Amino acid sequence: MRILGIESSCDETAAAVVEDGRTVLSNIVSTQIEKHKIFGGVVPEIASRLHTESICYVVNEALKKADCTLSDVDAIAVTYAPGLIGALLVGVNYAKGLSFSSGIPLVPVHHLRSHIAANYITHKNLEPPFLCLVVSGGNTLLVNVKGYTDFEIIGRTRDDAAGEALDKAARTLGLPYPGGVNLDKAAQGGDVNAYTFPKPRVSDNPLDFSFSGLKTAVINTVHNASQKGEELNVANIGASFLNAVVNSLETNTEKAIELTGAKTLVLAGGVSANSMLRSRMEKLAKKHGTDVFFPELPLCGDNAAMVAAQGYYEYLDGRRGDMSLNAAATMDITEGI
Ligand code: KG4
Repeated sequence: MRILGIESSCDETAAAVVEDGRTVLSNIVSTQIEKHKIFGGVVPEIASRLHTESICYVVNEALKKADCTLSDVDAIAVTYAPGLIGALLVGVNYAKGLSFSSGIPLVPVHHLRSHIAANYITHKNLEPPFLCLVVSGGNTLLVNVKGYTDFEIIGRTRDDAAGEALDKAARTLGLPYPGGVNLDKAAQGGDVNAYTFPKPRVSDNPLDFSFSGLKTAVINTVHNASQKGEELNVANIGASFLNAVVNSLETNTEKAIELTGAKTLVLAGGVSANSMLRSRMEKLAKKHGTDVFFPELPLCGDNAAMVAAQGYYEYLDGRRGDMSLNAAATMDITEGI
């Protein structure tokens, strides 16, 4: 079964054709990074306009590269939530038009579900149930993935996402957008103990996260140093901050492994590309005798192959979108339409 995936939730316009949820026939990503770089972050209005400009080309390229036409496609899967609302609407409306004119079924896909599904492409034998740490630009979640379309949130951030904190730290340190990946590079070889950052504490649920205090702490550290005229050691601050963020992710993931007895740990989302996070999760999994899986690096960030992969399982589960399908800026991974 062939699914055409369409993704436009943030600053990548993407389309892909995937067979049976696991085999990628094409995966086209048109990134807007260069256009947003001068602003130091994504400008939503510009993102929507750029999606509108490139979506036809990107979808046609995906079909061409997969050596098929629309008539070879069994369903059109599209990201409809969460994300930048204007950006999502471009993909949703395009997919609706395509579905209406061709009669091909439309399948709405939750963005974070598709980040998890990136792992099904990389690891052909991976199947739920498993414990998943979802770390993206806008979300940080610990999820019990009970089935391909069955999720239980067991931990979540109370404020900022890990990716958001990393992006803000990178910006404060004068690193270019996109922040997380540049912070990852700048921190290589830095001393993780050079700076001390607070340990986030959250009451009630031991699996919940908080990154806003850490974010403020790194901003204060940088501002204090510049006020005193001290030279900043970007590698050391970057490494110490990343270490603090990874510590928090690791601590809660370890608690989740202990509480759930999970035998399989999966990472998903843009921050799962981070080198320190990957090596620490590998060590953690080894300590607990748990298998650990990460998406291959090109599938960690936003792409449409993962949308088509999740779309396949949503299709099998009977999920369909009709011509009233709307986009939503926020939506829990457990929610449906
Ligand atoms: O999942 P994603 O591509 O977009 C959302 O769906 O939110 O995640 C983007 C986030 C950004 O915060 C970005 O800075 C971060 O992932 N990121 C990284 C790395 N690559 C991307 N953070 C740390 N290290 C990386 N190598």
